[in-house]
Amino acid sequence: MKVVTVVGARPQFVKAALVSHELRKTLQEVLVHTGQHYDYQMSRVFFEELDIPEPDYNLGIGSDTQARQTGYMMIAIEDVLLKEMPDTVLVYGDTNSTLAATLTAAKMQIPVAHVEAGPRTFDMTVPEEINRVVTDHLSTFLFAPTRTSVNNLAREGVIEGVHLTGDVMLDAFLRYGPVARDKSQVLQRLGLHDGEYVYATVHRARNTDDTARLGAIVQALTTVDTNVVMPVHPRTRKCLEATGLWNPLVAAKHITVSEPVGYLDSLMLTINARTVLTDSGGLQREAYFASVPCVTLDESTAWPETVAAGWNTLSDASHIEATVRRILRTPPPRKHVDHFGGGTAAAQVAHRLSH
Ligand code: UD1
Repeated sequence: MKVVTVVGARPQFVKAALVSHELRKTLQEVLVHTGQHYDYQMSRVFFEELDIPEPDYNLGIGSDTQARQTGYMMIAIEDVLLKEMPDTVLVYGDTNSTLAATLTAAKMQIPVAHVEAGPRTFDMTVPEEINRVVTDHLSTFLFAPTRTSVNNLAREGVIEGVHLTGDVMLDAFLRYGPVARDKSQVLQRLGLHDGEYVYATVHRARNTDDTARLGAIVQALTTVDTNVVMPVHPRTRKCLEATGLWNPLVAAKHITVSEPVGYLDSLMLTINARTVLTDSGGLQREAYFASVPCVTLDESTAWPETVAAGWNTLSDASHIEATVRRILRTPPPRKHVDHFGGGTAAAQVAHRLSH
């Protein structure tokens, strides 16, 4: 039994670290890196920290428009699949790498296994939502992280092949949280103290490519009454520089702007934050796992469980400043709800694919 796994972007490296380890106990895995993320801090650091096997293929596709990036990936993935002829192609999440691998495999009639099947924001103007819907409808094995995801799939008529496994990101959090506490020096390096800062990340095209929204985020960060740490995604940095918003951000004494951080440093920053402010789906859940309140810089989320638990507050651009002030003043009460499984999702995926 041979599985070709296709990854390309940061969150997929984290998930692959867990699942690859489990898969390789019983199956042959060929790992393909599309090259979607290519900077050291966006890619290599994850492979080193999480001990992910070296990719067997690096396609070197890199950044481009939506269609060109996806198209070039498909051409290169087809060559790999023709050579390897796997029994299954395994994909994660909702990126263009996920979509490219899924389209290519489905057209070659190779079964697709999708880890993180079923989350929806119901907003088809966002590239990730398109990627999620298409991938799920072409997949044979759908590994759903939450009950909500299973229900979303059922509403779209996708029932066969759906397995509720829990969230691989929870597996990763449970496994690497203690490692981060032990090894990460990020608080010392950036001069931060436990519970005394906001951990902010922004990378979604919707926020970075809209100057009014990006401006509202910077306004909220520069006026907030506590320290802020903000590792900046390359896309975000380009947009901040192009719109003149970079200088006020780095000039603010309470804000520490840094390069993107690796997974262990990001976990450490999350676990010790007073509040997380983000548009990342992964970080919304990690904040929830770490019992840290989160403000999501979006009007919708693929993770409504975190909102229902009272622990994640969605904010549109015009209310960000007020929302952040409110959450810092009065952190919301948290209902304890176990929505994301028991930390055994990776093992369940591997078990299902090998039987
Ligand atoms: C992608 C995913 C998103 C995921 C995120 C995780 C899609 C549509 N989006 O967004 O779902 O949450 O990854 O981080 O697949 N860049 C660099 N160096 C890099 C990578 C990117 O400079 O190593 C710059 C490029 O110039 C590019 C921009 O970042 O213009 C966007 O990169 P891209 O991979 O297209 O999407 P992300 O925004 O990272």
